[in-house]
Amino acid sequence: MIEERDALYGAASPAALAEETYENYRRYVNPALARVMKLSGSPVETHAHACTIWDQNGKAYLDFAGGYGVFTLGHTHARVVEAVHAQLDLMALSGKTMFDPMLGRAAKRLAELAPGDLQISFWCNSGTEAVEGAMKLVRAATGRAKIVSTHGAFHGKTLGALSASGRETFRAPFAPLLERVEHVPFGDASGLDAALEGAAAFIVEPVQGEGGVNVPAAGYLRAAKEACERAGALFVADEVQTGLGRCGFRFACERDGVVPDVMTLAKGLSGGVVPVGAFIARPAVWERAYGKAPLLHTSTFGGNPLACAAALAAMAALEEEHLVENARVRGEQLVQGARAIAAQYPAVVAEVRGLGLLVGVELTNEGYGGAIIPEMLRHGVTAAWTLNQQRVIRLEPPLVVTHAEVAAALDALRAGIATAYEKLGPL
Ligand SMILES: Cc1ncc(COP(=O)(O)O)c(C=O)c1O
Repeated sequence: MIEERDALYGAASPAALAEETYENYRRYVNPALARVMKLSGSPVETHAHACTIWDQNGKAYLDFAGGYGVFTLGHTHARVVEAVHAQLDLMALSGKTMFDPMLGRAAKRLAELAPGDLQISFWCNSGTEAVEGAMKLVRAATGRAKIVSTHGAFHGKTLGALSASGRETFRAPFAPLLERVEHVPFGDASGLDAALEGAAAFIVEPVQGEGGVNVPAAGYLRAAKEACERAGALFVADEVQTGLGRCGFRFACERDGVVPDVMTLAKGLSGGVVPVGAFIARPAVWERAYGKAPLLHTSTFGGNPLACAAALAAMAALEEEHLVENARVRGEQLVQGARAIAAQYPAVVAEVRGLGLLVGVELTNEGYGGAIIPEMLRHGVTAAWTLNQQRVIRLEPPLVVTHAEVAAALDALRAGIATAYEKLGPL
């Protein structure tokens, strides 16, 4: 691996590669981000496999940030990589003027796995595109413009998805966003009847990921779906982060036995190998929106053969390797272990919560995170803040994670919290 690494990156030394990469980020990628990453001691990621990432010095890290949910199958899963290699040699991108067998197969398999009668899928390249597509679909299907979303939601950063997202810091510089988007409290269906009057749809994450790993009470999605039905609005489950096993269900909306009208996916859909996104809809919804206008929503790269080959292999691996079950079992180990640590440090940790392998450690003060995450990194474990709630550290490892790897990550978390408390005391 080291030889391949050196051949690919071609740097004189690990230190030279780190310096070159930092300088390139600082000058050509994102100067402010480069400085923040450097300050937090972020190394250069050179290669990765399963739950492990290696840096330029060959140091191994357990990936508990998990690409913010991308690496459900871990890194470079052999089955997915093989499928992509085979497809790459044959035809990387389709010309779009002819039928593409891989898109057809991926869409069919997704419909087989998806809940209820969700059937027709549109494939794109990212989560935010999937949300944009879902927002357009519900507007076209209902002839209504208003979308109801939730406080703290994260649906992406393109203008439509951002309008549905809930963090003001990300929204304010781009105002005015879509006008007819209303935000209601997450996890509380009581005000939905009023909010949904005249609305096209309610969009919600079954568990808010970037909002701070907020797990609603069981029954919330069901109550929300019923409110949608009463209002003639559609129910959109944004499963970009929670879908495909992450929460210990194939799709997290299945926890409540709810079949959404539209479901959005991305992250884990192609097994962490090729960028992908998709939304899948009930046939009647699709028909109302695009039944007579098949070109109203299109994408040049969306549904390309590489992504579809990856998705087919990833969906097969998810089932055959029983990863949904593993997410439940290892998730329980992670939550219980983190709660035991939290009990020793009540001044630092306010709460540990999660569903499956989407776990959040809520700190009593945002300031502790800046000490905990780098210390965990020093101990060889990656972790990350949630985007809309910086007081919460997310632990989101691949679903292939083992008992020993979870135990090692818990040791690193304990060390991180202990160090933060030693350094900062009560905040
Ligand atoms: C629930 C949810 N929706 C949408 C997105 C946006 O996905 P992307 O970053 O691929 O555009 C995210 C990303 O974190 C997400 O968690």
